[in-house]
Amino acid sequence: MKNLFSILLFMLPVIGLQAQKFDNLVLTPPMGWNSWNKFKCDVSEKLIMEIADAMVSSGMAAAGYDYVVIDDCWQVDRDETGEIVVDQERFPHGMKYLVDYVHSKGLKFGIYSCAGTKTCQGRPGGRGYEFQDARTYAGWEVDYLKYDWCNHSTQNAQASYSLMRDALYKAGRPMVFSLCEWGANKPWEWAKDVGHLWRTTGDIVDRWDAMMTIFDAQKDLANYAGPGHWNDPDMLEVGNGGMTDEEYRTHFSLWCMLAAPLMAGNDLRTMSDETLAILTNREMIAINQDTLGKQAFCFRDNGDYEIWVKKLVGDERAVCLLNRSDEKKSVEVDFRVLLAANDDYWKISKGDLKNYTIRDVWEHQDVKQGKDVSLVEMPPHSVKVYRFINNQK
Ligand code: GLA
Repeated sequence: MKNLFSILLFMLPVIGLQAQKFDNLVLTPPMGWNSWNKFKCDVSEKLIMEIADAMVSSGMAAAGYDYVVIDDCWQVDRDETGEIVVDQERFPHGMKYLVDYVHSKGLKFGIYSCAGTKTCQGRPGGRGYEFQDARTYAGWEVDYLKYDWCNHSTQNAQASYSLMRDALYKAGRPMVFSLCEWGANKPWEWAKDVGHLWRTTGDIVDRWDAMMTIFDAQKDLANYAGPGHWNDPDMLEVGNGGMTDEEYRTHFSLWCMLAAPLMAGNDLRTMSDETLAILTNREMIAINQDTLGKQAFCFRDNGDYEIWVKKLVGDERAVCLLNRSDEKKSVEVDFRVLLAANDDYWKISKGDLKNYTIRDVWEHQDVKQGKDVSLVEMPPHSVKVYRFINNQK
């Protein structure tokens, strides 16, 4: 008995050491850029360096975007020792050179692989090479790993992702671990101790209806998100051309309200002023990056018209009015009700507005108070976002 006890005591640190993700990373949702939405397999050293340059020169980095993530297609093979082989034509100086370049810009570097035998584009996957790959990524000084779920055959998702988590931890370099399992096995129920974010759905498409379908799928997931563990409704399409600027403003606002990772997916080198203005709206970003780490809940669902509320530190809140319809709408807004908004749908009370300034986050101006109820005009597919600023803080 005594022997068994000592063995268990001896093993505890070992078990503890392995069954752990890196804590204290992404305590607010990660922000950055990922190559997939715009460039698919057309990735190269040149592209990534130019994107890193543009991230800084455009002001995106100053607004908080710091991870530069290469998605699928950087890898072509494994050598005789099992080492992953980087596409030499597209990355002539190898991956470490590129990571160093991104770091030299004050940014962080992310890479992509897959829990299955092959990635979604048929490149070598991580299955069976978890510890070796984690060591390689750590050697390159990678900061973020997105791990996909193609070609997984009969693998168990929780076991597969936990194995890679352990491999990363063993490799010793703190890396954000982004699970890309498309919500297939409800990762929100088990991945809090495995990764830092998990995809909740299939891939986003640069269209209003597709974006809204993904948004709708987040409705019941609010309680699973928090500092260091986020629901991921997929990367941003802002600026990729399939939606209007109004719709992109809505897309970005909804992702901010959801405390979603903000991974831009457009060409930062050539984006329009309007795209940049959307992606760098600091008041909107501050709502996303609020340290309380709450995901918004749906306070009212009136079909075409919804109200979403995100609680913020200091007894503040962000409220997003959403006109989903193809028609413009006039909505009557009672700011006292919005201030008191509670996730109990039926509990309607009225807050006291006198201690709050109401800020219109897209107009960048305070709402003139005086009357409690205002009529607000909303174009089709648009949002109004208000922040209730606590003057007594
Ligand atoms: C899957 C993922 C995408 C992207 C591609 C790459 O579809 O969900 O985000 O990484 O694979 O092949």
